[in-house]
Amino acid sequence: QPIRLWGGRFTGATDPLMDQYNESLSVDRVFYAQDIKGSIAYARANVKTGILTQEEFETIERGLGEVLQEWEEGKFAPAPGDEDIHTANERRLGEIIGTNIAGKLHTGRSRNDQVATDMRTWLRDELNLIEEYLVDFLKAIAQRAEQDIDYIMPSYTHLQRAQPIRWSHWLLSYATAFKNDLERLQFTKKNVNKLPLGCGAVAGNAFGIDREQMAKELGFEGLIMNSMSAVGDRDFVVEVLQCAATISSHLSRWSEDLIIYSSLEFGYVKLADAYTTGSSLMPQKKNSDSLELLRGKSGRIFGAMAGLMMTIKGIPSTYNKDLQESLQPMLDTVKTLKDSLQIAARSLATATVYPDRMRAALSPDMLATDLAEYLVRKGVPFRETHHLAGRIVALGEDEKKGINELTIKQFKSVDKRFGDDVLSVFDYERSVELKSTTGGTSRSAVLEQLEALKKTWA
Ligand code: ARG
Repeated sequence: QPIRLWGGRFTGATDPLMDQYNESLSVDRVFYAQDIKGSIAYARANVKTGILTQEEFETIERGLGEVLQEWEEGKFAPAPGDEDIHTANERRLGEIIGTNIAGKLHTGRSRNDQVATDMRTWLRDELNLIEEYLVDFLKAIAQRAEQDIDYIMPSYTHLQRAQPIRWSHWLLSYATAFKNDLERLQFTKKNVNKLPLGCGAVAGNAFGIDREQMAKELGFEGLIMNSMSAVGDRDFVVEVLQCAATISSHLSRWSEDLIIYSSLEFGYVKLADAYTTGSSLMPQKKNSDSLELLRGKSGRIFGAMAGLMMTIKGIPSTYNKDLQESLQPMLDTVKTLKDSLQIAARSLATATVYPDRMRAALSPDMLATDLAEYLVRKGVPFRETHHLAGRIVALGEDEKKGINELTIKQFKSVDKRFGDDVLSVFDYERSVELKSTTGGTSRSAVLEQLEALKKTWA
């Protein structure tokens, strides 16, 4: 029978399938360093409580250092009873320094406050990375938006051609969403970075351990103020998954746009070979797989979020083993999101953009609103101008001509207030430049967005 942390009251053996069902080492081994750091901080704080002598602490610190080294060198050998990372590290420490001293380490501590501490430490560091990748992606967007500022393309509502915009304006529409995501992430990181250690199994620590000291040593920005909440709460994981779901749903819509734009019918962009794949059957194919995976993986992330919320919603307060099920969606989502953000940034930075194709997709009917607004500037109420511009569109259809190809006479036949200068409306640059209010697609309004965005990393 393997040695177990909780073996004292047990006489019967565990079903091997139950062992496998119960173990989490295969998942939580990624926290080996966080677990060891947490134990060192806990042991140090227990010198002040009188549980450990300074000498015993130093022995524990040295022993844990050796365990850490074994993990880092890939030499750590799990034993049959190592049901999770906490068990494994403590078992190995006992083998190295002897169980007389190692056996004191867990005084007043539980795996309940321990696992919550490991998860928060790990997550905090991963969130820093995610933040970094998100900023890198924003930088890639900003760079393209700046360099491609002259490119004009159709905007779409209902996927029907709407009004001319700058390609940079489309790019920055997503930057706006991702910037919001970044702020949410930063807020979430504050909630993650609170220390549960020193709360024990449920009721708190009976030896007066200095939690502030441990928080300082472990880089936490405060304490969880209630021991029951400290061990029973996984809202911090839910919050991260919610952030991830929002980010990845933005990545998914962004990808969907680009998949459409990179079809031959549109031809606005082409991904670099590095982010596409071919077909095993059709030799001509070049598929935007990176974008499709970004779109597809967002479903998995959303599923992880929904699954964890479902797992948590009905359990009684404090620690229940159900909470172990928060590990896998957390690890999977963090990895997927980190990869996705990097793939998105690289796909964008290396893509080729075809401004001529964008330009060719513009059509004069997209300036019908500009035509209506032309009459507004001559003092005609918009409701009326909207109708008149509509009649011009209908006339163009009847004549099988673009509305820019109608004669001044034909314009005047619809309404005398169309002046001799009416054809000046049919200029895409003019249309775009008129949208100069903050948030618009004129050059100055796009540059204004760009400046605001760049403050993110300034
Ligand atoms: N592996 C467990 C988890 O991830 C650690 C906590 C176990 N606590 C317990 N009382 N069995 O949740």
